[in-house]
Amino acid sequence: MIGKYRFGTPFATDAIVRECALSKGALPRFRVEEKEGNVLFSYTLDKKDCVFGLGEQVRGINKRGWLYVSYNEDDPEIYESRTSLYGSHNFILVSGKETFGVFFDTAGKVTFDVGYTDSDELVVTARDVDVYLIEEESALEIVHTFRGLIGRSYIPPKWAFGFGQSKWGYKNETDIREVYEGFEKNNMPLDMIYMDIDYMQDYKDFSVNKERFPDLPALSAELKEKGVYLVPIIDAAIKEEKGYTVYEECLKGGYYCTDAQGKPYTVAVWPGESLLPDVLDPASRHWFGSQYKTLLDMGIEGFWNDMNEPAIFYSPGRLAQAIDYVASVKGQNLDTHAYNKVMGAVTSLHNSPEDYAGLHHKIGGKRVSHEKVHNLYGYNMTRGASEYFAEYAPDRRYLLFSRSSYIGAHRYGGIWTGDNGSWWSHLKLNVAQMPGMDMCGFLFTGADLGGHGWDTTEDLMLRWLAFGIFTPLMRNHATYWVRPQECYVFKNKDAFRNILGMRYSLLPYLYSEFVRAALNNRMLFKPLCFEYTQDERARTVEDQLLVGDSLMIAPVVEQNAEGRYVYLPERMKLIRMKAGDRYSESVLEKGEYYIPVALDEVVFFLREGKVLPLAKPAKNVKSLDEDHLSWIKFISEETTYDVCRDDGFTLSALEKSFMRYTLKP
Ligand code: GLC
Repeated sequence: MIGKYRFGTPFATDAIVRECALSKGALPRFRVEEKEGNVLFSYTLDKKDCVFGLGEQVRGINKRGWLYVSYNEDDPEIYESRTSLYGSHNFILVSGKETFGVFFDTAGKVTFDVGYTDSDELVVTARDVDVYLIEEESALEIVHTFRGLIGRSYIPPKWAFGFGQSKWGYKNETDIREVYEGFEKNNMPLDMIYMDIDYMQDYKDFSVNKERFPDLPALSAELKEKGVYLVPIIDAAIKEEKGYTVYEECLKGGYYCTDAQGKPYTVAVWPGESLLPDVLDPASRHWFGSQYKTLLDMGIEGFWNDMNEPAIFYSPGRLAQAIDYVASVKGQNLDTHAYNKVMGAVTSLHNSPEDYAGLHHKIGGKRVSHEKVHNLYGYNMTRGASEYFAEYAPDRRYLLFSRSSYIGAHRYGGIWTGDNGSWWSHLKLNVAQMPGMDMCGFLFTGADLGGHGWDTTEDLMLRWLAFGIFTPLMRNHATYWVRPQECYVFKNKDAFRNILGMRYSLLPYLYSEFVRAALNNRMLFKPLCFEYTQDERARTVEDQLLVGDSLMIAPVVEQNAEGRYVYLPERMKLIRMKAGDRYSESVLEKGEYYIPVALDEVVFFLREGKVLPLAKPAKNVKSLDEDHLSWIKFISEETTYDVCRDDGFTLSALEKSFMRYTLKP
């Protein structure tokens, strides 16, 4: 059951796909009050109530005990103290004495005080918002109804479920080939090599540096033949440069964001002074989407959209002021306050509220300040690309994922969780983020495995991969300044080869479960308590997840740990995998266990009554042999399992592409 309640005059976000009439009467369950132009929605939590959701956010699976702000933020320092990350996913599910879901649909800022100010109070603050209250019998059914409201999740091509290698700093064709050979020589599987901003000419979108990549179409074709796809990055901002066609077209068509008077608003990102395409305006969005044609025509079939919060390094006027200010104190003896002012003058240029307020969009014939619709920018950049792909090659699936997002973007692409660090705490965060993102429709998700910022270590990389083999987007990515972390640079190559291989062995299962979850608006990663609803202990488990219908995982997320405690909410079969075709199994009763897990193995659990299809480890998705599956079974009677065996890239064929297997005990 869905109730819809309107407060103020919200902008259309297009987050929902099902028409929903406004409900009569007041919003049930919440106390609603107005304060300084905001609407406050308060709900008193019972001692044992949990609050789930909020998609890509900091902290645990149960969000209780912290303050979360939906205001898309480009900031790579992801500490526990942060309140906003790159996405705004305003859906929460209160579970306990009463169980219900609420979606706060607004383009503007929302604050979720989940027992932060007062440990028993949930207070949501927004303005101009449509509130959807969803009531069903269980958490899983609430999510199902919500997902039906926001529409079907994006499904990438099958090759995108392989393993991808990425790093900022693969500067030319030779570097790309070196990565390919690194994997090839070490007999490690690979499906994608990502191209960061280094491939562009002067960081200009949809351009390719001719000296460093003399023939990108040929390179792409050659690698694709070997089963490896090139996936370039696309940034939001367009360099201002006379003669650069994309810029000239943008200017001529009036496709840019403006100031309050309608003049182009210059911001600076990687290429220096740039314009932001006004992707909130349908004509501009279409124009920006159509620019992907340049790379599609070169044989590229996958993209990652970046810097689309949007990130603004500075705007020229404010930079000039900052420089003047710094110059004005030259020669002075600065005490701590004066010094901080100098530092602040420069650091505050980045993503400044003044620039967000000054930047304007065309919405419904009016000029609207970006500040009011901030959270919709990355969403609409991705939407523009996806809508264009559908024109370019109807019914074909392309790989597309974004850094910034809002609910609704889940129909057009996946997301990655941005610039994490090579920290154990971020591996743990990655685990906790998965169910939240699923609840909000983002099924094709993953983090930078091994960590993006700071130097990684071999053990962290292995443990992260051992979890990453279960995440739909499986990519090792790191920033420019850190030491190499390609899987073949480490000492224990067998361990890397075997763990990567397991991804391919598990792929018939992971892909089938993913496609099924997307087609049926279901979750792929579930907190234990969503299934084991009567189990008090399951409610508090923050570091174990159910993956699809058959499996439970309990990743090791601690440095130097030789295993971990695992809670089994029912009898399960422990699978200890040394390689995709080498594993042992043993049955464990419900309860708590210390399970040793070596660095070179993966341990997971098969639920009773379930089966797991396995393929032989493969070099890439293209060469995966799904005609000869083996099965791990934990059944006492005949059971069926449907494996998705589509062509891997057509959208409309998916529903009819499941092959039924009947398994005997
Ligand atoms: C941003 C992205 C990161 C990328 C870098 C350079 O920080 O989040 O993934 O490597 O930009 O393009």
